Amino acid sequence: MKILGISAHYHDSAAALVVDGLPVCAVQEERLSRRKNDAGFPINAIEWCLDHARLEPSDLDAVVFYERPMLKFERILTSALRAFPQSWRSFPHAIKNTLGEKVWVRGIVASHLGVPRRRILFTDHHAAHAAAAFFTAPTRRAAILTADGVGEWATMTAGHGERRADGQSEITLKREIRYPHSLGLLYSTFTAYLGFKVNEDEYKVMGLAAYGRPTMIDQVRKMVRRLPDGAFALAPEYFAFHTTADCSYSQRFVDVLGPPRHPYDPLDLDSADGRRFADCAASVQRLLEDIVVDIAMRLRRETGLPDLCLGGGVALNGLANARILAESGFERVFVPPSPGDSGCALGAALFADRIYFRNADRDVPDHPFWGPAVDGQDLARAAREDGQGVDELDDAVLIDRIAADLAAGRIVGWMDGACEFGPRALGHRSILAAPHTSEMRDRLNRDIKRREEFRPFAPVVAVEDADRFFELPSGGARLGRFMSGVFAVRPAWRSALAAVTHVDGSARVQVLDRPMAPRLHALLQAYGRRTNIPVLLNTSFNVAGEPIVTRALEGYMTFRRCGIDVLAAGSTVVTKRAASPAVSLKESGEWSSSNVAASTVA
Ligand SMILES: [Fe+2]
Repeated sequence: MKILGISAHYHDSAAALVVDGLPVCAVQEERLSRRKNDAGFPINAIEWCLDHARLEPSDLDAVVFYERPMLKFERILTSALRAFPQSWRSFPHAIKNTLGEKVWVRGIVASHLGVPRRRILFTDHHAAHAAAAFFTAPTRRAAILTADGVGEWATMTAGHGERRADGQSEITLKREIRYPHSLGLLYSTFTAYLGFKVNEDEYKVMGLAAYGRPTMIDQVRKMVRRLPDGAFALAPEYFAFHTTADCSYSQRFVDVLGPPRHPYDPLDLDSADGRRFADCAASVQRLLEDIVVDIAMRLRRETGLPDLCLGGGVALNGLANARILAESGFERVFVPPSPGDSGCALGAALFADRIYFRNADRDVPDHPFWGPAVDGQDLARAAREDGQGVDELDDAVLIDRIAADLAAGRIVGWMDGACEFGPRALGHRSILAAPHTSEMRDRLNRDIKRREEFRPFAPVVAVEDADRFFELPSGGARLGRFMSGVFAVRPAWRSALAAVTHVDGSARVQVLDRPMAPRLHALLQAYGRRTNIPVLLNTSFNVAGEPIVTRALEGYMTFRRCGIDVLAAGSTVVTKRAASPAVSLKESGEWSSSNVAASTVA
């Protein structure tokens, strides 16, 4: 059976194809349209999925949309009417927005793809989140917790899933919290208040939190009432997102926390305002963690199950995930590589396959690489035409050469195989660098990523080496598989891993299991042989404001216009002619493997 899943029209659209119970491919629209967080109907993603699987739309048994548009419309209409007359200005805008293409999804899919309308299905939004989390995890029974901004009505659901011995599967979501009471919207409100982009920059709030202290936790706690059954309710007087599209927080919110930050104002962490903003971020971060940990604890007691699958955009919060693992009593916590709305394309297709059509259960491969593959020959052609030096190397030679480049302080664009499905580069579309000095972090920020200094870079380490450098609790390696947890860097290694250690001593580490990305694993080992530290800085292969690169040509264009020194794809290596000066780490005197080893032993 061939099932196409689609998510669209909110942010980060995507398509995914499931054939005979297994994912075949999945990709976000932005990776093909090259518009960051593209929310449009994912026609490029759908076309690529069908092409990749050599299918025609008429071959599809079902096309599944990741939410129920009419229910969403009902929520928007009901909320606007409840909030009348405050909502009168935003009401026409909201209705026009929803009545645009968003409600008439069946007609749009039918007309774009020529699929009969009866083959077009809809899932509940949080059922798609739950399916994306549960059916992709290597577990047969697990508690399920989903949390996001909002779907149709639900903003959080809790329940459990089971893949039975007879091949049939169940997902039971027993409880839900409904709009406007939403942890995702609480966090997004702070994202807007702190001058960042909603639905895009929530992770900046998490990065900023490390610079502050939760001094305003009491004030922030008053914004969220806890209920006797463990649920929560936002105190409406602090929020405005349910009455207007103009601003998500109220005057009361500003009265309590102070004036908001304008998006164009610099964020100076040495100023009183800068410290206040960092304290706000720390306070909302702490509150979010406290609530999800408490709800997860209750779910653990209620289900008695050792495994938990987390879905929804809130599951991108690695600090909260790590605290759930440490404090809730669950032994294993699974977060898929794409827990947000793009992952719902895959979730919706899997939900239809297992639950709606009752097809037999299958083990879903445990990796994120479902997108278009890179072709090293494309890179070689482009670089030669451009007059750059190109080497075509055997894999062992290539790995050793790249390890030498990294050890010499060069920054490497690393493209390998199929691209990741989800927001994180996990070793197939990564910028790699030596993780040892703060100068490297500053250089990456200045010459390539052009982003705020307070945002940390992440390390990648092989699972067998992870404990040496990071304080991973039991189950931590699993949470680190897709960079879903934040853990402490061992104090002895913090100065030697300065580029990837956040100000509070933590890191959002990717813990790499060799079979998932064997070439990156080989590169880590080769780098370790040269430096005694088999850890690399791993950041997504893109510059600010652009989606992660997909094809070789996009990688090459990015390489040409930023400070990346070396680009590798397949067996091709391109070294920039006018390379930025590669500072030998040993010569610079900032760091060397010998003094790191000495300080560690001491
Ligand atoms: Fe969602």
